[in-house]
Amino acid sequence: MRLNYFKKEELEARRNLFESKLDDFSITLLFSGVSKKETADETYYFSVNRNFYYLTQIDQEDSILMIVKTPNELSEYLFVLPYNELKEKWFGIRLKDFEARELSGINNILYQDTFESKFQLVLDELSKLSSKVIINLDLERENKIAESYTTHELKRDLLEKYNNIEIKDIYGTIIEQRMVKSHAEIEQIKAAIRTTRNGLDKILLNIKPGLYEYQLSGLFEYSLKDQGNFRTSFNTIAASGKNATILHYPNPESILKEDELMLFDLGSQYLHYCSDISRTYPISGKYNELQSKVYTAVLNCNKLVINSICPGKTIKELQEIAIKSLTQSLKDLGLISEDKDYIKYYFHNVSHHLGLDTHDPSFREKPLEEGNVITVEPGLYIKEYGIGVRIEDDILVTESGNINLSEGIVKEIKDIEKLIASREKYKI
Ligand code: GLY
Ligand code: MN
Ligand code: MN
Repeated sequence: MRLNYFKKEELEARRNLFESKLDDFSITLLFSGVSKKETADETYYFSVNRNFYYLTQIDQEDSILMIVKTPNELSEYLFVLPYNELKEKWFGIRLKDFEARELSGINNILYQDTFESKFQLVLDELSKLSSKVIINLDLERENKIAESYTTHELKRDLLEKYNNIEIKDIYGTIIEQRMVKSHAEIEQIKAAIRTTRNGLDKILLNIKPGLYEYQLSGLFEYSLKDQGNFRTSFNTIAASGKNATILHYPNPESILKEDELMLFDLGSQYLHYCSDISRTYPISGKYNELQSKVYTAVLNCNKLVINSICPGKTIKELQEIAIKSLTQSLKDLGLISEDKDYIKYYFHNVSHHLGLDTHDPSFREKPLEEGNVITVEPGLYIKEYGIGVRIEDDILVTESGNINLSEGIVKEIKDIEKLIASREKYKI
């Protein structure tokens, strides 16, 4: 299937905005990272550094973006691995120069083995123009350049070698920009939500007592492959009964029981843009009275929080709204008598930003603004009832309020029961 890569103009616009915030007489270096070793002769799946990817659309290891800024000039260089016939025979085809140029919109494509000499040349030139040269690095923790070399070690080595440089951390500048999604980015997130919805539809048509939890997480993951080889955005959570009271339930190996609920927290990646959705379904096809009460409490909270999302609100305020609503429901259920005891049944945050990362980096105290995409994911986890419910949607903040991007994924009791019942009609 053909993926909708961003047009290079989108990448140029991102870099233009980013570059407008850079200091004069600065060199910015961003690294794609490398695959980590898993065993003697195998590596983990390569997961590109998202800040590098955001500014380049290059998903290939050992690549470097260098941006040089002076008052009169701005130059961009992209260093990629050179052609290597033997490596290609073993590990697959690498990007050609023209492909890297087309994807990134960067004209100066150089080979990675020339990076050090080019960097030295550029530093020498800037050193003639200014007594101090700024080197911008992404100093986020665990930011690997090579198997055992991080940007922090690069910082140390540069400071040892040169006495006319200042190292700055550029992480926050990129993150602030990433928090506001462009129209094209929102389209990618919507595509990830669509593939997730299709996977959840498969679950709804197949959920029944006697299956193992992993059969349904496997069905979801097969559905993502079937729709175009999509990856999950995080480890799929498929938790029945009391397992759903464990937030990140890790090993879905229990048998589904007739009288239990099952919580799914899952998502898909589309060109690294993530969805993050939770739904809680009745294994029998019908919620019993107690399950309905708990489910409705979480659903009402989910809707209340969504309805209050608009520019200017903070995630902290959304959490306060969620706590107030869930606390009242817990009192109505007779589970708590004192407000402070809600924490026994609800113990996580209601929202996080979503984008290239499932938990997209953000400044949490920053008021929401148009173009932010956040989750809304209240839950109640009642071990003594063997019930865990979470309902999670993905919300776009707009100028006048918000749009629920995952509105098409059913969450009303009657709609879920109707969909499960409909499979009888189709004899699945
Ligand atoms: N799936 C992780 C989360 O909802 O935040
Ligand atoms: Mn989730
Ligand atoms: Mn989430």
